[in-house]
Amino acid sequence: MCGILAYVGHREAYPVILKGLKRLEYRGYDSSGVAMIHDSIKVYKKKGKVAELEEFLMGKELKSTIGIGHTRWATHGEPSDRNAHPHMSNSGRIAMIHNGIIENYASIKQDLLSKGYKFNSDTDTEILVNFIDDILIHNSCSLEEAVRVALKRVVGAYVIVLLDEENPDTLIAARKGSPLVIGIGKGEHFLASDASPIIEYTKEVVYINDYELAIIKSDELILKNLGNEKITPFVQQLDLELSAIEKGGFDHFMLKEIYEQPKTIYDCLRGRLDIAHEDIIMGGVESQIDKLKHANRIIIIACGTSWHAGLAAEYIIEELCRIPVEVEYASEFRYRNPIVNKGDVIFAISQSGETADTLVAIERAKEQGALIFGVLNVVGSSIARVSHAGAYTHAGPEIGVASTKAFTAQLVVLTMIALKIAKEKQSVSHDRFVELLHELNALPEKVEKILSDVSSIQSIAAKTANANSFLYLGRGYNFPVALEGALKLKEISYIHAEGYPAAEMKHGPIALVDESLPVLFVATRDAYHEKVVSNMQEINARKGKLIAVVTEGDKTLAAFTKDIIAVPAADEIIAPILNVIPLQLLSYYIGVSRGLDVDRPRNLAKSVTVE
Ligand code: G6P
Repeated sequence: MCGILAYVGHREAYPVILKGLKRLEYRGYDSSGVAMIHDSIKVYKKKGKVAELEEFLMGKELKSTIGIGHTRWATHGEPSDRNAHPHMSNSGRIAMIHNGIIENYASIKQDLLSKGYKFNSDTDTEILVNFIDDILIHNSCSLEEAVRVALKRVVGAYVIVLLDEENPDTLIAARKGSPLVIGIGKGEHFLASDASPIIEYTKEVVYINDYELAIIKSDELILKNLGNEKITPFVQQLDLELSAIEKGGFDHFMLKEIYEQPKTIYDCLRGRLDIAHEDIIMGGVESQIDKLKHANRIIIIACGTSWHAGLAAEYIIEELCRIPVEVEYASEFRYRNPIVNKGDVIFAISQSGETADTLVAIERAKEQGALIFGVLNVVGSSIARVSHAGAYTHAGPEIGVASTKAFTAQLVVLTMIALKIAKEKQSVSHDRFVELLHELNALPEKVEKILSDVSSIQSIAAKTANANSFLYLGRGYNFPVALEGALKLKEISYIHAEGYPAAEMKHGPIALVDESLPVLFVATRDAYHEKVVSNMQEINARKGKLIAVVTEGDKTLAAFTKDIIAVPAADEIIAPILNVIPLQLLSYYIGVSRGLDVDRPRNLAKSVTVE
């Protein structure tokens, strides 16, 4: 949710910032801008993607070795040139970029209006930069001090980075609730919302914590808390390769990430699945095993695709561990005075580990004494820091806005967690436990097989790309898969799609069915299969356009439709991990054939750091 990039050092700042903003574009892409110091501060901003800013600035003299840049996902004020960041203070002394939301901006704005301040944008950011400016002017203090004073009054979430005309060699940055990482080079520093723009310059980074302020020159990094006390920066080595964040010959990141799944699933299993000793090794689970196996209830908190992984986990954990599970939308959980009892365990699922709704929800549950267990992809992310324990999904950086490989990795990790708890609790037989270990172990090869021939998916995509609406149906373990398939299609193709439990469909959505409506059944062989076939009959009788994901070799559905996608046979608990892959590809091919930007769908952002 908004990408931030700043540089101070010996290089030309603009090319570094521009390249970095392109890497961070997944965080928001409705407008972008840069500010640099060349005698005075110069700000350039443009509505649209970073490429439009680049075109706008083509041929301009942008010489400066210090600068800040921003790519925006609009909150306050429509996407436009004037609402794009950076924002200047009325005095013209400071320019600022911001990721987050200043919740009490309205009262601060009133104070500033009464003092004669004027605003050119609708943003909360412009209020904050002028608030800092006002403190600076009236207290004749340093910018660092003014920022400290201002932030003590600010309610909300932020990363801010400021450029100061009177100190043209220094950047000032601060964070609360949104991510900021500083890359340490030789005589240069890089500030960014994540490590992806930094990796090609240095592997040494410092993650800034909440309520910390950084004062950065080319050869100096000072960290302080808001009480003006110095903090020793904790320098870490990045464990990330450049190839992980480049397209590597694929047309889109989304396709690359779909095709990475045999490897990401393998990485997720590696070192954990111990077939030889018939065990699962997961340090995070083992460290909390008593609380986990004696949990009265597991509450899963997540948003979007991660919520769908949580729903699948509900089915798996209840089946294997016999522990009641509730799956909550983080944004709803937080605000409805939820009951969290002693003995409840919270699972927080998040690819980015930064989703504000999830973060505040688990902070609330933590205050009420619950154990917080994170299932996260990004190491060191905000949710990782507030969790008591957890398990990483090891899917690597996911750049495509629509989540694919992170989802399958979440399912794999959650299945392993459930199996480990069940083994310790003895709620699963040894034979069943071992059987599922082998099923997990076979996954990478089966995924490879699905990806080796996508012709049936491409031909269904070609036939349905002009549909106005889609229905996705599944039962049991395949119900969350239907929801995820529908979400993927909405995100990527802008076609309205609904996911529904296959049997519940007759209580309403069946009214939508006619010969123009594609109805996709996730109908692999499982305990519900015959019932699902009956539901397909019901759609067939009403002339819906049936599409089915079936188990290889299953001929029972050929009588209803030619639009069949076969996946390798798998245990019903494991099957969703395979079944979702054709649905990811279907959305991808439909999105591409509609000429859409599948990596950066309209209005979305990958990491939503506002509530
Ligand atoms: C955003 C993204 C979704 C994602 C959701 C949760 O809405 O567009 O793709 O599923 O956030 O993200 P998280 O990082 O917490 O898994």
